[in-house]
Amino acid sequence: MAQAQYPFNQRRLRAGEAIRELTADIRLSARQFIQPLFVEEGIEEPRNVEGLNGVRVDTLETVLITIEQDLKSGVSKFLIFPVPLRRSAEQFDFSFAVRVFETIRTKFGNKVWLAADLCLCSYTTHGHCGILNKEGTKLLNDPTVGVLSNYALELVKAGADCIAPSDMMDGRIAAIRSKLDDHGFDDRAIMSYAAKFSSQFYGPFRDACHSSPGQAALKDRKTYQISPLNGKDAIASALRDEQEGADILMVKPAALYTDVIAALHLQTNRPLAAYHVSGEYAAIELLAEKGLLNREAAHLEVWTSLVRSGANMIISYAARNATAWINEMKY
Ligand code: PBG
Repeated sequence: MAQAQYPFNQRRLRAGEAIRELTADIRLSARQFIQPLFVEEGIEEPRNVEGLNGVRVDTLETVLITIEQDLKSGVSKFLIFPVPLRRSAEQFDFSFAVRVFETIRTKFGNKVWLAADLCLCSYTTHGHCGILNKEGTKLLNDPTVGVLSNYALELVKAGADCIAPSDMMDGRIAAIRSKLDDHGFDDRAIMSYAAKFSSQFYGPFRDACHSSPGQAALKDRKTYQISPLNGKDAIASALRDEQEGADILMVKPAALYTDVIAALHLQTNRPLAAYHVSGEYAAIELLAEKGLLNREAAHLEVWTSLVRSGANMIISYAARNATAWINEMKY
């Protein structure tokens, strides 16, 4: 009997599309996608965002058109970023955000699932995610958490299904959970931006939301967002948020931190969300524009890596393409 030259032949499983399809150990589904939406107060027309192809900042009127089209393309779950006109150092007016949720809920009812990004960075004059001390050198934890909890309550009253705090203060999850529960909103979920790193890759987003810090003495977000050099901090922060009552834990940015997704997947029974952030998205778009890669295939490959790492859901600026791209995906 002839001895196989390679007894551990792996290429048999790669031999054709049919066997590759059959043997894939993960599947992508459009059902696991969340589309971010930006809605700005006081603009006449929607505007495009540099680097974020296929995404625009809507007005309160045009976001309804955007959602209608998205529903037709097969995406019904949204993460909403309201961008108010007026800014302040500590007196915040949440009425525009409330109107955004009420308007969308009234028009679409239960056809849409709405998560609300919960942060103060588009409310503050200086662009930080909370209230600063007088000198502008420190972000004050507890006053910020107090304001965010009240904001969260307004958002669920206005129709948000899920609150997604992205501020990175300590104790916010417990505070928000008890605030919502005390007012009878124990059915609304919290998706914590649990492992949120201090990253260069939020650049295009900050243009969209006018939320770059810099005016104050405190120049960056490193005193509240996680250091890329400290993966253990990310795990500890996420497990802490789980204990405080977070229903879903998010890792962000996603593609650069799949090690964190994979490690968390082993340590928690909570579902995980991976946020492929604006800079990661724009990097693919710019490479595609230069003809250096295939846009769809590149996004599909990133999404695959996020699911393979253990993410249950993906927040992507290209979520509205997920149905079409996944259906036509080449194995
Ligand atoms: C608000 C917030 C940010 C993002 C989501 N929520 C920006 C930041 O922390 O500076 C980034 C999203 C993206 O880049 O796609 N704090």
